Amino acid sequence: MNKVLVSLLLTLGITGLAQAAGDAAAGQEKVVVCGACHGPDGNSPAPNFPKLAGQGERYLLKQLNDIKGGNRVIVEMTGLLDNLSEQDLADIAAYYASQKMSVGAADPELVKRGEALFRGGKLEEGMPACIGCHSPNGAGLAAAGFPHLGGQHATYVAKQLTDFREGNRTNDGDSMIMRGIAAKLSNKDIEALSSFIQGLH
Ligand code: HEC
Ligand code: HEC
Repeated sequence: MNKVLVSLLLTLGITGLAQAAGDAAAGQEKVVVCGACHGPDGNSPAPNFPKLAGQGERYLLKQLNDIKGGNRVIVEMTGLLDNLSEQDLADIAAYYASQKMSVGAADPELVKRGEALFRGGKLEEGMPACIGCHSPNGAGLAAAGFPHLGGQHATYVAKQLTDFREGNRTNDGDSMIMRGIAAKLSNKDIEALSSFIQGLH
């Protein structure tokens, strides 16, 4: 791992939100309305709605705060978090984190290209491998807020990478990690990576 990456990891590890302790059992009672899109246990049945089951607690809490505060705009969720307290959000994050993300299938035609990018990055363009932060099996690094990717819907993943690339998702912090990485990805790269990630476990 190169020096820049290591210092980036350290910075991310020690900054970020102070976390209220979440109660998973209390959270389960607060996600009834969410189940319509994300599935009752967070394994969403629709490819454009992200799976939340098994996602890292810290990452989930950050996204919930970003969505509530308008740093990440999700039209489908407009107003849904307005009446939830910081404790409610922490409980919801704890609930989904306690579930298990289901795995999908990868398109065999895309696996080779997707896996090469995920594990090797694009060295000639200075793009680090995804495994450096999202781990070789796609589990992410919960304590650092690096999201779990393995098994996530390809359609959703492709939209995120495109949104980061086009500047439509900008909540990856001042270091712009994901925007910087996505800027190096072609549409074909994104298609291959997303398919590979959907089948990864
Ligand atoms: C009408 C459908 C809908 C409902 C209801 C809904 N969501 Fe979402 N949610 C979405 C969509 C669509 C996205 C992803 C948008 C995008 O493409 O960036 C999303 C994204 C998220 C994310 C970010 C996931 C990630 O991997 O970054 C979280 C967390 C989340 N929703 C939590 C909730 C919670 C908690 C509730 C209930 C209070 C809820 N959602 C209700 C549609 C919905
Ligand atoms: C230096 C660390 C780092 C590397 C390398 C990295 N990521 Fe990320 N990634 C992150 C962080 C941190 C976030 C969360 C940003 C936020 O808080 O919104 C993220 C978010 C994402 C998301 C959004 C997840 C969701 O549920 O919405 C996707 C998809 C993603 N990364 C894919 C990739 C892919 C594919 C690669 C390799 C081409 C990669 N990442 C390389 C750190 C990294």
